Amino acid sequence: MLFSSIALVVAVGCVLGHAGMPSERVTTCVDGVVHRLSCELSGVISVQTSLYGGEDSVTCNDGGKAESSNTGCSDGAVADIVKKKCNGKRVCELSSSDLGVSGSCGGTTKYLHTTYTCLPAFHHVTCEHSLAHLQCGEEQVILVYGAEYGRRDRTTCVHSRPDSQIQNISCLNPTSKVAERCDGKNSCLIKAGNSEFGDPCYGTYKYLEVAYTCNYFQDQLT
Ligand SMILES: *[C@@H]1O[C@H](CO)[C@@H](O)[C@H](O)[C@H]1NC(C)=O
Repeated sequence: MLFSSIALVVAVGCVLGHAGMPSERVTTCVDGVVHRLSCELSGVISVQTSLYGGEDSVTCNDGGKAESSNTGCSDGAVADIVKKKCNGKRVCELSSSDLGVSGSCGGTTKYLHTTYTCLPAFHHVTCEHSLAHLQCGEEQVILVYGAEYGRRDRTTCVHSRPDSQIQNISCLNPTSKVAERCDGKNSCLIKAGNSEFGDPCYGTYKYLEVAYTCNYFQDQLT
């Protein structure tokens, strides 16, 4: 029951561009504040829009939250970075240094405004050299929503690793290989390693992050 409703939501999401799902909004002042997106309780992050802006009228609260503003001055580059960093994760934290923005926006207060939804999907992390095992219930098949082999933060797969191997968090490497291998199957094994995905950043200890849903086969045909 749970899984068939997930399949339905995903199907609707494809058609309506997630219009049917409630959106979350986060606006923070850019400097020195963490911009935090979270789908901890209900799936994985899917960023809709992310705007970097500068305005005189925006006020920053104590916690660094900015009064909501819907205009921005950034082109698509900031949204691309936020999507690459955050899509498919349960929780994503960004700071201004991750955005690579300069103060070119005008206005005295810089802010970042992001709208996202939480897709109801499983989130699976496999550290480099290990096997990822995706598994659905009986008569259900895997549908991969997104997969990423690389490193996007300094908190995942860090146990007993030297600093030098977890420093580069710009190792962004979305891959379609997991979908090609696993979509439509009930279970699937794939090695989180350079032999499968190539080496997107030499010297960095990487991990494979997969967001997927389980659907009844019938749902795939509709
Ligand atoms: C991190 O890895 C990427 C991909 O190889 C590379 O382009 C980038 O320069 C690296 N960044 C740092 C800070 O080493």
